Amino acid sequence: MYRKPVCLGPEHDLRDFDCGKPVMDAFLKDMARHNQEQGFTRTFVIADKDFTVVGYHSLCAGMIARHHVPGSIKAHQAPVEIPVALIARLAVDRRHQGQGLGAALLRNALQSVAMAAESVAFRAVAVHALDDGAAEFYIRYGFRQAKGMERTLLLPLKDIAASTQA
Ligand SMILES: CC(C)(COP(=O)(O)OP(=O)(O)OC[C@H]1O[C@@H](n2cnc3c(N)ncnc32)[C@H](O)[C@@H]1OP(=O)(O)O)[C@@H](O)C(=O)NCCC(=O)NCCS
Repeated sequence: MYRKPVCLGPEHDLRDFDCGKPVMDAFLKDMARHNQEQGFTRTFVIADKDFTVVGYHSLCAGMIARHHVPGSIKAHQAPVEIPVALIARLAVDRRHQGQGLGAALLRNALQSVAMAAESVAFRAVAVHALDDGAAEFYIRYGFRQAKGMERTLLLPLKDIAASTQA
């Protein structure tokens, strides 16, 4: 049994998290709470019935230079720096992969961005994929390569609704 995605809180146990990518595990265990308190990232988690975290995503705001952005996102008279919501991290514990949790976390992240975008302007969602495998995961949800930035992927804000139904 998995709990719905919620904001990381004191009840959550992060100690055993292992997604197979040490850098993603270390972020959750060592940085996520600090970043949450300081306002650097917001982390949402899926936990099991015992509040052991089995998946998480972390969001923050970012900017991407106009020349990296495809025409469909840039449109006319875009500023030199284009505001994006950044999926800074997203990972699922290896023992729980392949059961739809990654998709559920991405859907939750995109829904948060869509809500935030009603009061803070974002033109797109960005992610810096860790490797080609991670990039493929995002591409299947409509993300596309940024120009000249290897494994940086973008999803136009207007495509969020379609992506969350994929
Ligand atoms: C990538 C990751 C988040 C996917 O999580 P998951 O819970 O296994 O994914 P899901 O079970 O929700 O899969 C959803 C869909 O994506 C597909 N998918 C999963 N991992 C994929 C990958 N690496 N490449 C391509 N497609 C992938 C699944 O086949 C599934 O497709 P389906 O709906 O047609 O069956 C997970 O493997 C992970 O945490 N990897 C290590 C950390 C990482 O690389 N994170 C990316 C951060 S940049």
